[in-house]
Amino acid sequence: MNTGFSPWAVLALAASMSGGAFAQDKIKVGFMLPYSGTYTALGVAIENGFRMYVNEQGGKLAGREIEFFKVDDESDPAKATDNVNRLIKRDKVDVLVGTVHSGVAMAMARAAKESGTVLIVPNAGADAVTGAMCAPNIFRSSFSNWQSSYPMGVVAARQEGKKTAMTITWKYAAGEEMTNAFKEGFEKEGGKVSKQLTLPFPNVEFQALLTEIAAARPEAVFAFFAGAGAVKFVKDYYAAGLHKSIPLYGPGFLTDGTLDAQGEAAQGLLTTLHYADELGTERDRRFRAAYAQAFKLQPDVYAVQGYDAAQMLAVGLKATGGDIGKKAVFQQALEKATIASPRGDFTIGKSHNPVQDIYLRKVEGKENRRVGVALKGLGDAGRGCRM
Ligand code: PHB
Repeated sequence: MNTGFSPWAVLALAASMSGGAFAQDKIKVGFMLPYSGTYTALGVAIENGFRMYVNEQGGKLAGREIEFFKVDDESDPAKATDNVNRLIKRDKVDVLVGTVHSGVAMAMARAAKESGTVLIVPNAGADAVTGAMCAPNIFRSSFSNWQSSYPMGVVAARQEGKKTAMTITWKYAAGEEMTNAFKEGFEKEGGKVSKQLTLPFPNVEFQALLTEIAAARPEAVFAFFAGAGAVKFVKDYYAAGLHKSIPLYGPGFLTDGTLDAQGEAAQGLLTTLHYADELGTERDRRFRAAYAQAFKLQPDVYAVQGYDAAQMLAVGLKATGGDIGKKAVFQQALEKATIASPRGDFTIGKSHNPVQDIYLRKVEGKENRRVGVALKGLGDAGRGCRM
């Protein structure tokens, strides 16, 4: 039977009908985060922060309701490609939010680049994500590994006057990039890193390495661990008595979200990070009070990064009138935006990494108190990024 419609007219009609339906469709957000293992608390804080911002907007961003999907990535790079494809191909999410672990994040970035799905990284600092692997649809609300740790190297040499140091971390991208960044800052200011110790992720058998540090007697130690591993490391360092003669430094992850459990062992530790517990701004006070009330937990840097990932999504959606398919408009809006973060305002650099102040913090009681700004308005070099 001839309907009298050309195939093109039928297609156009179908397209306009789906355009009409679009206004009611929900935006699908896929959380790919660690909900098990040493980084569990970090994944939970990121999701809490993200949801809190969406709830503050009445559950909608740019007039679109948000629907959530979740995958536990277990901080396991070997499972990362399958996991991210569950969200992209099975759940058909519009936006990927993840993850904590740098190795897993690189697999996510690869999949996001291939599929064109928007990816907002709410923690993982893998330098390549906003370096050689950068892409128009990939953004970070957190930091690059280099950015978190280079300033501590500068402070340790210039301000603390240390001449020799050893580093210790898990052997994977984040640990290697952070300890190398510390070394770069430290040596640029005249210090010397004598040895870089590692153990496999997420092992916590630190004893042999602590014995090696005690024997070598450097003037300082710089360590990256996070989550449950950071709790154990800081307590073991203290129990070995090393804190008395060799100051321990780190990126702020070493003491963020961990102070209840680290207690006495963490007191006085100096770290660098883009957040601190007592910034004293109205923006941060409101955020902290709302978070504590909603989750019966103190917020930490991970909660802030989750919250800001949602703020970034909101900026992009608003510019596109809620149509995330308008990729170029989404990208340009973020590149021009200033995000009113609890950490302080930040902008998004050319390689899509935050440009932000890096604070020097000191542990006092249950807080990472800001004692200064280690480097102001620090961006990431975005080495190898071509968009
Ligand atoms: C990372 O793997 O990039 C990572 C993990 C935990 C942190 C920071 C960075 O706290």
